[in-house]
Amino acid sequence: MFGSYKAAPDIDVLTSNIVIPGFGLLPVNAFVLQGEVPILVDTGTVADSEAFMTALRSVIDPGDLEWIWLTHTDFDHIGSLHRLLVENPRLRVITTYLGVGILALFNPLPMDRVYFLNPGQKITLGARTLTAFKPPAFDSPSTTGFHDDSSGALFSSDCFGAMLQAIPEDASALSDEDLRDGQMFWATVDFPWLHKVNEDVLAKELDVIRAMEPTMILSSHLPAAPGSMTERILASLAAVPRAPRFVGPDQDALEQLLAQITGGPQ
Ligand SMILES: [Fe+2]
Ligand SMILES: [Fe+2]
Repeated sequence: MFGSYKAAPDIDVLTSNIVIPGFGLLPVNAFVLQGEVPILVDTGTVADSEAFMTALRSVIDPGDLEWIWLTHTDFDHIGSLHRLLVENPRLRVITTYLGVGILALFNPLPMDRVYFLNPGQKITLGARTLTAFKPPAFDSPSTTGFHDDSSGALFSSDCFGAMLQAIPEDASALSDEDLRDGQMFWATVDFPWLHKVNEDVLAKELDVIRAMEPTMILSSHLPAAPGSMTERILASLAAVPRAPRFVGPDQDALEQLLAQITGGPQ
């Protein structure tokens, strides 16, 4: 199920979800920053590339895009990357040395189509200056989020995502409990190393986000969240080191599930 909605007059969210049986729905977002220099942030899942392209075409002609900001190289972010580069020879990809290196193991990017930007560095594209930063939690060392000085939005990649039972277009429609539980669960799944992180160290990382005073947090895996929610969102992540660890279903659970599907042992 693909759809799109506006997080701001000049920011479209292309959204779908992944059904995680027994746990809920994980939103999967990409973003189009409209303007004199249009930018696409991530390119959907590999499995849903056709539906992603249809949703993209509903908000912009892909031939008008000039840049892709690739937050990282996971399969839920690179789905239409290579086809977009083939279809639009002007498109360039903002990523890191590590991002290019990881993609080289799968389908190398042409080096004259990439632009290396490290955390702390900026790029000005039309009326926007984008400042790269390393989110406080990530699942790939290639991850780079950014702050857009034009909209004030913070693009946080996988960080601040949440497993949900229903996905609204505005995260402020989520109850405190659904937001906190959904964020904490996702964080224990995707960033299990947070259990090893000193809470004071994590708090300092979250202070960096607080100091940016984002007008919105646009995570790859959370509905668009207005800046008024920043404290709630940071508080959920701050509590993760003390949260129960995620352990996936084991072989016994899988066999029980298969028996339910097939009607029991033959
Ligand atoms: Fe990821
Ligand atoms: Fe992701």
